[in-house]
Amino acid sequence: MNNKPVISLMNVTKRIGRNTIIDDLTFEVPQGEIFGFLGPNGAGKTTTIRMIVGLMSITEGQILIKGKNIKTEFEQAIRHVGAIVESPEMYKYLSGYHNLIHYARMVPGVTKERIDEVVSLVKLENRIHDKVKKYSLGMRQRLGVAQALLHRPSLLILDEPTNGLDPAGIRELRDYLRHLTHTEGITVVVSSHLLSEMELMCDRVAILQQGKLVDVMPIERLTHGNDQAQTYQIKAKPLELALSTIKQMEEVLEVKLTQDAHIEVTTREERIPDILVELMQNNIRIYGVQMVLQSLEERFLEITGAGQIG
Ligand SMILES: Nc1ncnc2c1ncn2[C@@H]1O[C@H](COP(=O)(O)OP(=O)(O)O)[C@@H](O)[C@H]1O
Ligand SMILES: [Mg+2]
Repeated sequence: MNNKPVISLMNVTKRIGRNTIIDDLTFEVPQGEIFGFLGPNGAGKTTTIRMIVGLMSITEGQILIKGKNIKTEFEQAIRHVGAIVESPEMYKYLSGYHNLIHYARMVPGVTKERIDEVVSLVKLENRIHDKVKKYSLGMRQRLGVAQALLHRPSLLILDEPTNGLDPAGIRELRDYLRHLTHTEGITVVVSSHLLSEMELMCDRVAILQQGKLVDVMPIERLTHGNDQAQTYQIKAKPLELALSTIKQMEEVLEVKLTQDAHIEVTTREERIPDILVELMQNNIRIYGVQMVLQSLEERFLEITGAGQIG
């Protein structure tokens, strides 16, 4: 296992005119990881990616890709990178396969075998001879990834790859990105403004806000917090009795009623079965229990909130 980072950013700053768009970013991405840039729109994710792939100059600091400086050793650094920054150009009336052939002409040394290989890596074998106009958004996305992989990069960078995908499409994307990291040892960097999507895909995330790095952490720490408490929504009747019953239970951090007459309880997952048993023993009928995904966004706001950034 090679422990040298695939990407290192050292005190990277980007200024345009009088605006500091990226402010002193420092972090590393080790090999084989699916790493996320997470932050609201305008946080600087695309700008950071554009600097990493050499589409935008760096005002201050350094970016190394596999130890090569993107500024002073551009050719050697960019060789390792496959990226989709803006959505890739596809010819809708050609098959996926002919799109790849067309693109491969512009990349030195790509063989027919390699084309077959990338097609199977993104699991498009069955549909690769269909016209692109018949592809779902997810399949177009995969074709774009296949294209970015043709020259055997060791780093794949995708800017907001889940845009427009449904949850099933996002899972599919996650699965084949995972497959890529396992079979090819590829390192993947993705950006998103949605924590719930990052949760499905990434091992670790860098949280960006207003061009600053808030933190880098494993995704579990972000989604579960340190205490593992989560918010669950319980639909139960009678409501008041359910509420007072839950309030009396141990390790319940918070209970409240929502506007649409659900109970929201914040506790460890382990406590949920006990809560349900207690409700049932009090003849309370339970219609459903659900984890509140919004709490992830809340947790994100908590982390990016006041006090962390000057
Ligand atoms: N070429 C540019 N000129 C001036 N400002 C820019 C330019 N590109 C991006 N910005 C600004 O930089 C900030 C970060 O943008 P961006 O990197 O696109 O964020 P994200 O991808 O996280 O949504 C925004 O405030 C945006 O308006
Ligand atoms: Mg962007």
